[in-house]
Amino acid sequence: MSFDHAPIAEEAKKHINSCQDKMALDAARVKYLGRKGIVAELFSKIPALPQEERKAFGASLNVFKQDIEESLRQKEAALSASADSAGAPGLDITLPGKKPLLGRQHPLTQIETEICDIFGCLGFKVFEGPEVETEYNNFEALNIPLDHPSRDSFDTFYIKTEGKEESAAGRRLLRSHTSPAQIRALKTCPPPMAVVVPGRVYRPDAVDASHSFMFHQVEGIAVSEKMRFSDLKGVLIAFAQEMFGAKTKLRFRPSFFPFTEPSAEVDITCFLCAGKGCPVCKKSGWLEILGCGMVHPHVLRSGGCDPKVWRGFAFGMGVERIAMLKFGITDIRLFFENDIRFLEQF
Ligand code: PHE
Repeated sequence: MSFDHAPIAEEAKKHINSCQDKMALDAARVKYLGRKGIVAELFSKIPALPQEERKAFGASLNVFKQDIEESLRQKEAALSASADSAGAPGLDITLPGKKPLLGRQHPLTQIETEICDIFGCLGFKVFEGPEVETEYNNFEALNIPLDHPSRDSFDTFYIKTEGKEESAAGRRLLRSHTSPAQIRALKTCPPPMAVVVPGRVYRPDAVDASHSFMFHQVEGIAVSEKMRFSDLKGVLIAFAQEMFGAKTKLRFRPSFFPFTEPSAEVDITCFLCAGKGCPVCKKSGWLEILGCGMVHPHVLRSGGCDPKVWRGFAFGMGVERIAMLKFGITDIRLFFENDIRFLEQF
């Protein structure tokens, strides 16, 4: 018996070429080359053949087997080439795509920008001071002498500087408020001037729901020859009504800051209950939002301005506090945890 492989090879080739996907091709491979496939079955017939036919039969069968292997290889290459050009096999290109995640400003950046924008409309420029300040600018220049009790709540986070530790001008610390930037602003922007200074400040406060060792302030200082307390009031009323609503009323309570004289703390009518009293304003109807006053002559002098010629007002507010009030946030730590679920809400 001889073996003419041509007709069956022709048929196998047709079968393999008609396969539409890898699964059909695998089935064809099993059919021809599998352990119980056609080729194996033909090989198993060899021992039963007469001796003289075995060699020709085997050789012809080997050619047949190689033909099938070649056909399978070619078809496989063709299938994966077309899969590559159409994306992964089984890709449904009608499915909607994945939306790219859009970033957004941190709630504190939003509030800080809003504050600076409002003062921008009132003629204030943005000025920046360094977070690492001289001890002198943070205290002495602002009329806070070494033995002043208010230093206790401020005095910490000193930076190691080599060789310059002897004087307050040389010692450096993380600023405990943005007020030292008043000194830098006075020296850099000769009056008449008006600037706001946003930025981080650092205090030795234990962290809890309403305290953080680091938070943000926006400072303001305006100096001209005729600046009066009524100018300060006008500017702050305009700011608060823009920030918290046109019906907002302000209350100026006498207070004390070494760098302003006279000094005041400012409350606004609670924008949630319109002054009636609610949990946010602790039933008082008022919310404290900032400290302010007329720039102390000592500060003007530290900034290189003659207090006999120039007068100014200054104010400072906490950005976290305003953001917490506006957004109804009850824990300051949420701002710094970088939890997307929180940040996404603003
Ligand atoms: N620096 C003050 C504080 O941190 C705020 C303030 C600024 C008060 C300017 C008056 C004038 O509490």
